[in-house]
Amino acid sequence: MNLLITGGAGFIGSHVVRRFAQSYPNYHIYNLDALTYAGNLENLKDIEDLPNYHFIKGNIVDEPFINDLFDKINFDGVIHLAAESHVDRSIEDPLSFVRTNVIGTVNLLNAAKRIWSNSYDKKRFYHVSTDEVYGSLGQEGLFTETTSYDPNSPYSASKASSDHFVRAYGETYKLPFVITNCSNNYGPFHFPEKLIPLFINNIIQNKPLPVYGDGKYTRDWLYVEDHARAIDLVFHRGKNHETYNIGGFNEWQNIDLVKLLCRVMDKKLGRHAGSSKNLITYVKDRPGHDLRYAIDATKINKELGWEPSVTFEEGLEKTVEWYLNNSEWLKNVTSGDYQEYYSKMYS
Ligand code: NAD
Ligand code: DAU
Repeated sequence: MNLLITGGAGFIGSHVVRRFAQSYPNYHIYNLDALTYAGNLENLKDIEDLPNYHFIKGNIVDEPFINDLFDKINFDGVIHLAAESHVDRSIEDPLSFVRTNVIGTVNLLNAAKRIWSNSYDKKRFYHVSTDEVYGSLGQEGLFTETTSYDPNSPYSASKASSDHFVRAYGETYKLPFVITNCSNNYGPFHFPEKLIPLFINNIIQNKPLPVYGDGKYTRDWLYVEDHARAIDLVFHRGKNHETYNIGGFNEWQNIDLVKLLCRVMDKKLGRHAGSSKNLITYVKDRPGHDLRYAIDATKINKELGWEPSVTFEEGLEKTVEWYLNNSEWLKNVTSGDYQEYYSKMYS
């Protein structure tokens, strides 16, 4: 099996690459990544010498490069994670999201269709997507696989568009695909511009914790290794032309999550109880901020037996410990461009 994993140097992608490279020594894992600000080969240091792991630096938007790659390596499967993934950045620069998330996905679909056109037997295009395509929930209800798409941010609109292209290639060209739509991930190697790692970093440095709006926005959090395990299951046992929702059954209002994180950090850093909480600062809201996401993961549970294995309290402790034990990683990813990004977004 020659397996192409795109975006493998990013947060979730690195956990997926590690899982596949370690669990399937007879697969050749090709990690294709452009190494944008969010991609970091440090995330894969522990497996870079495995004989079945190969890194390719390249951009999915570059059509000739993608075609050439598919001509050179006979891929049996694609797990596509490469994306621009941060909502706040999409508000600043929507076009870069269209390029990578839409055009990049279509380039991969075209290349897979062309190379596999003789026979789709045992081939699979796995598109990793998000629950944000469904838009925002009110106080009640859950997203199911049949919930209508209703994206609100340039990021979620670009992911929704890429999902539609994948499904359209399944209908029009019979390309064998699966799509998963997952809720908010957290865990090691999470780039510190997203809520949990940003706040861990700021607490370490005694910097303000910028909570958007009233902090009553709700997300459904899943430990990243549980997502990687779900991807493994769906890749091997999911049904073609199907969508599966993946979620943590774990809803938190941002402000409650932040207070829990503050308690865990105070304990781990040996600070007085309540000291991190004092850093909470309410700031201007994100435009078009989705009120609530919550996933109904019954289908993947019933069909494939998947469920989260890590409780939120365990996962958060593990995550905090990882960041405290990997201060060098944190220092490296927050130098240079990160400082510019931070002052632009939060000054
Ligand atoms: P990330 O931003 O941490 O990583 C994205 C990776 O893609 C990086 O390594 C980056 O270098 C690479 N990349 C970006 N543009 C590229 C391009 N043009 N060509 C090649 N590589 C490129 O993202 P993540 O949080 O790990 O998310 C991975 C995927 O999972 C995305 O498709 C995202 O939409 C989806 N997702 C994320 C979450 C979450 O909570 N983070 C939840 C559900 C779904
Ligand atoms: O739901 C899945 C999605 O989860 C993924 O598709 C995205 O790639 C991923 O980034 C994430 O999107 P969110 O916008 O939910 O994640 P983020 O960490 O940016 O924000 C989580 C919540 O915290 C959200 O309600 C906004 C809020 N927030 C975020 C930041 C960065 C703050 O209050 N302050 C902040 O500084």
